[in-house]
Amino acid sequence: MSTHSQERRLNVRDLAAMKGNRPIVSLTAYSAPMARALDDQVDMILVGDSLGMVVYGMDTTVGVTLDMMVVHGAAVVRATNHACVIVDLPFGAYQESPQAAFRAAARMMSETGCSGVKLEGGVEMAETVRFLVERGIPVLGHVGLMPQSVNAAGGFRVQGRTDDGARRVRSDASAIADVGAFAIVIEHTVEALARSLTEELKVPTIGIGASPACDGQILVTEDIVGLGGDFTPRFAKRYAELGDGLREAVGQYAEDVRARRFPTAEHCFNPPAKGGVGKPRLAAVTTDMAGRPNAKGRRGA
Ligand code: KIV
Repeated sequence: MSTHSQERRLNVRDLAAMKGNRPIVSLTAYSAPMARALDDQVDMILVGDSLGMVVYGMDTTVGVTLDMMVVHGAAVVRATNHACVIVDLPFGAYQESPQAAFRAAARMMSETGCSGVKLEGGVEMAETVRFLVERGIPVLGHVGLMPQSVNAAGGFRVQGRTDDGARRVRSDASAIADVGAFAIVIEHTVEALARSLTEELKVPTIGIGASPACDGQILVTEDIVGLGGDFTPRFAKRYAELGDGLREAVGQYAEDVRARRFPTAEHCFNPPAKGGVGKPRLAAVTTDMAGRPNAKGRRGA
């Protein structure tokens, strides 16, 4: 079911305007099929660098490269026309200087067609965020738990439990909001802090493990549909068990092949029976570069 009436793609201003009006619904996608499934239902799709762990089996997001993000970002943009698509700048692509960040972000915008970039960091990244925003690059901030800094932080821990910790997250969030981020992701942070930040900041807060007090929510899609492996973060709710369905389908295929039940005649390409009426031949084949039938033709003649 479509949940929107808008013909054009949502942009960062639309998201910013949702604060105080309705919750921002967002999820991650890294591929065209997943993005197609989400597009109609969500306001924002994040091509997160969590793809390093979810898609590539890495232990952290630190090994994700700009090239990887560009390829996945472009796939998600091509597959969507409603949700606002934001792509993560990966570790190492933006921390060195505002100029380096601009080069990475400009490449991301021009090669993927995304509507903006996300980067992690607070006070120390404020100058960079200002530099990007002043040059036409919409920035989604990310404070609280910042997975790209996992090595320095010594692990993935809830943020804002102590007074000092809460002060740090608060100053990070307001530093990034003050220099023009259109919204801020708050990750893995105690509820009271997320609530007060949401009240204080003029831009929307989008929580992941940061309570319902935020202006919107984001989760890793695989975590909510049972495709994220055995571990589900405590803050993610499971809405489906697609992993089970997938294993079952693959098991049936394997059994069919072993028992020679697949393929059957309908999956085979044979010349028409001599003089017989046979099955009608299909139209001439034309396919796109991915081998999918295009508008003029069908595969399978
Ligand atoms: O990389 C990611 O997926 C994120 C989260 C906010 C979902 O940054």
